[in-house]
Amino acid sequence: MLPKVIATMAPPESVSSQLSDFCELLTCDPATGVIPDEWLQSADGMLCTLNTPVTAGLFSRAPQLKVVSSVSVGVDHIDLDAATAAAVPVGNTPGVLVDSTADLALGLMLAVTRRLPEADQFVRKGEWTNAWSTGFFLGTDLSRSTVGLIGLGPIGQAVAKRALAFGARVIGWTRTPREIPGVELMSMDEVLSGADITSLHTALVPETRNLIGARELALMKPGAILINTARGGLIDEPALVDVLQAGRLKAGLDVFAEEPLPANSPLLTTPNTVLVPHLGSATAATRQAMLDRAVINLRAGLAGEPLPYCVNP
Ligand code: DGY
Repeated sequence: MLPKVIATMAPPESVSSQLSDFCELLTCDPATGVIPDEWLQSADGMLCTLNTPVTAGLFSRAPQLKVVSSVSVGVDHIDLDAATAAAVPVGNTPGVLVDSTADLALGLMLAVTRRLPEADQFVRKGEWTNAWSTGFFLGTDLSRSTVGLIGLGPIGQAVAKRALAFGARVIGWTRTPREIPGVELMSMDEVLSGADITSLHTALVPETRNLIGARELALMKPGAILINTARGGLIDEPALVDVLQAGRLKAGLDVFAEEPLPANSPLLTTPNTVLVPHLGSATAATRQAMLDRAVINLRAGLAGEPLPYCVNP
């Protein structure tokens, strides 16, 4: 009998056909994501995304679980202590989404500095009736900017490389200081107060929740830009809304405290803000590479072998 695997999302056909070689797939209703209790009772594995909270309660209701494989690099949706206590290895998909996420961070920087969504709307609404003039729709240059990076893991470093290629000065803070070509390391407060554009690249863990609150936002220069392609929980969102509404800062945001962003979120009406729906890894090739890694982890876990990409001991 094949091991049973709960998939909390419907995997694409190419992936489900691979999976059917080595497991029986139980696919949750994508609209609700609800996992029936009777599935948990007999599940050997779980293939999930960052939408699925994998809680201590879930582990206690899944006595046979041998592996959780998440199609994500971030694992803040998974209670890793509970997984470890239940002796369930948790797999993620590091490495393969570095370039796509770094590209999006740069895209958001350019969208905010050059006001691209606003300019697009201006043209589409038929408001472009004036002749070209020297003071029209002005933005700022990356090449004349200091880009500050909070977190210098693989994605932070990939953003640094890109920002340097654009001619920016790059400053950064990391909890584990080490030489990174072209990046001037300093304290987090110095990065926040020295940068024209600050981009967040740390994982969301208890110590980094609300890392950027009212105090940190107040350190940023007037008119500075905050970019977040990491996790919404890194920012105290109400505090950010206040400074955006006051016109003190600008932002490019891919991730939010609550996703999808609620229809009544005050972020939807903040000026100087570009919002995109958690697209950091959203290219066809990257998503395929993430799925491939997740399948490899799942297969190893079901076979009782070490996961190639494991986040808990
Ligand atoms: C991840 O893998 O954690 C990303 O947020 C997905 O885009």
